[in-house]
Amino acid sequence: MIDYKKEINNSRVLVTGGAGFVGHNLVKELVKTYNCHVIVLDNCINSSADILNEVADKIDFKKISVLDYAQILPLLNKVDYVFHLACIQIAASSSDPVNDLRVNAESTLQMLEYIKLKRLTNIKRFIYTSSCSIYGSATNNFPAAEIGAIAPLSHYASTKLLGENYTMVYGKNYQIPVSCVRYSNVYGYGQSPKNPYCGVLGKFVHESLHNKPCMIIGDGEQTRDYTFISDAIDATILAATHPQASCEMFNVGTGVETSVNKLFEIIKEVIPQAEAESIPERDIDNIRRRVTNIEKIHQKLGWTPQVTIKKGIAETIKWYRTMV
Ligand SMILES: NC(=O)c1ccc[n+]([C@@H]2O[C@H](COP(=O)([O-])OP(=O)(O)OC[C@H]3O[C@@H](n4cnc5c(N)ncnc54)[C@H](O)[C@@H]3O)[C@@H](O)[C@H]2O)c1
Repeated sequence: MIDYKKEINNSRVLVTGGAGFVGHNLVKELVKTYNCHVIVLDNCINSSADILNEVADKIDFKKISVLDYAQILPLLNKVDYVFHLACIQIAASSSDPVNDLRVNAESTLQMLEYIKLKRLTNIKRFIYTSSCSIYGSATNNFPAAEIGAIAPLSHYASTKLLGENYTMVYGKNYQIPVSCVRYSNVYGYGQSPKNPYCGVLGKFVHESLHNKPCMIIGDGEQTRDYTFISDAIDATILAATHPQASCEMFNVGTGVETSVNKLFEIIKEVIPQAEAESIPERDIDNIRRRVTNIEKIHQKLGWTPQVTIKKGIAETIKWYRTMV
């Protein structure tokens, strides 16, 4: 089988949101495994450049906003691949919806329009990282498949869908090589508990190791499809390099549905002192169940997740212990 990911070896890459959870793991992988020359762009609103200290001498870190078009657009002339990850997280999206729209969607449009107007031929692939939250609670699309119903229920999901739609429009109408990955609840090492929007799993592990209760929202029977970080990174690089990924969007998940109560139970097996408390639901807690259909990425790109939820949680706990 051809290893398409090798196509990215020694490439020039731009990663926006590259100090974030997924972003910094992607940057490290691109530098260490693929010897890429990476420009990292992040305004560090929820993150810090320090997280990339290990590879600091091999990257060009620019602490600027993706909305600073005078500075960021010319960078597109210098790279082969763009991974556009910068985002306003779901929990922050409703408090400043206009900024959410600008970061998640407008910046995407500006970059794609620049690539089109300047007729840039250096870009081998523009990757937009979308979210399975765009499926909302569409009960007629369960497990959620790419061709099924979409029903965003938050500002975040709406603007991620818009960013994704722009990406596909520029791919289809202007032949810009694009692809989108729709992540489902990524978790694992490097998810800073200092980030107020850290995912549930990171929060639970961090609280348990600090002898604080895990806050279970509602009855804890809400489900998600949790994807381990190394699987998400692998799928993302494959989506950037596989010829069959051009102008396509893919779910990146596991096909396995896990409740919050089950997550807590698995964590408690490893950290016996873990305790739970129940808290009321917030306005963004309006999706009861989510699991993704990952047939498309499997069929087209030959990708399958490698890490089970138990193994992933064990790895996550191991990483958080090094941070205590
Ligand atoms: N982590 C998940 O479970 C998940 C699920 C679905 C989709 N996604 C998508 O994956 C991508 C990465 O998510 P993440 O979990 O790493 O998020 P994150 O919040 O950890 O990282 C996002 C980064 O974007 C940066 N940022 C925010 N506004 C910016 C701006 N104006 N200019 C430059 N940088 C800015 C933040 O400082 C942060 O470092 C996002 O596009 C997100 O929508 C993530």
